[in-house]
Amino acid sequence: MREFSSVTPESSQKWDVIHPEAGRWQFADSDRVVDFAVSHQLAIRGHTLVWGRASVPDYIEQAADAKQLRDYMADHISTLVSRYQGKIERWDVVNEPLAIRGGDYADYIFNRLLGTDYIEQAFYLAHQADPAAKLYINEWYDENDEEKFQAYYHLVQQLLDKGVPLHGVGIQAHYNFHDPAPEKLQRQIQQFAALGVEVELTELDIAKFPWLDNRLQDQGIEYYQAAKACTAVAACSGITVWGFTDRYNWIKDWLNLPGFTPLLMDQTLQPKPAYYGVQQAL
Ligand code: XIL
Repeated sequence: MREFSSVTPESSQKWDVIHPEAGRWQFADSDRVVDFAVSHQLAIRGHTLVWGRASVPDYIEQAADAKQLRDYMADHISTLVSRYQGKIERWDVVNEPLAIRGGDYADYIFNRLLGTDYIEQAFYLAHQADPAAKLYINEWYDENDEEKFQAYYHLVQQLLDKGVPLHGVGIQAHYNFHDPAPEKLQRQIQQFAALGVEVELTELDIAKFPWLDNRLQDQGIEYYQAAKACTAVAACSGITVWGFTDRYNWIKDWLNLPGFTPLLMDQTLQPKPAYYGVQQAL
């Protein structure tokens, strides 16, 4: 592939899409992504096994007790990870375990019933299902929210201290409601790397409303800086953008803002300054 070396399914592997009821699986869309990637020699980031904030099917949200939820989680992770064993080389095992801002855990059905141990349990289950897969924790945060960064850092450190099979730290890098802070980002990547894990930017996008002024040039610089914060650190092993053409992007649909242009290529797949910014940083 000319532009990319790795692919991530945006939603087709999320719990409510792929496993909407206990025992009922819908693999078709996910299989298409995986088959496409394999036939084009693209690596795959699996996304995501356990995410409490969204895409939680009703039977999980309504789990009767800890045992039932643990059984559901074990079945979900084992089935999904073993299906793609040898094809999906890295998985986002737990997505967004922390509250949006500050230092707390998010309040999800998983920690309500299982306590925060659900996080390490998910990693052990994934590791059992595919011992060769690289297992990631993945989180969104604003680099300026020092409390949240510290909470994320300590969670990673704690899991590693306990010997949990955690191999990578994902920083989503959605710059939709805050500006990038590339110097802080690089320092934080370095701090994670010093714990002995790999780090990836997993969902990079940078909001722009081009009608305000000529913001696409600024966006190009910001993409360069964000990408450079990763490529400057040896342990930063990947950059995933959350979509690539402004024609399709989640924020635009979510906020119903058709003029929103957060990605590398324009509506007609022409490279933007953002594209050249990333290229320059590689
Ligand atoms: C988003 C998808 O892009 C949307 O299409 C979907 O409606 C909601 O989820 N953090 C994540 C991603 O980890 O899975 C989210 O993806 C964006 C925020």
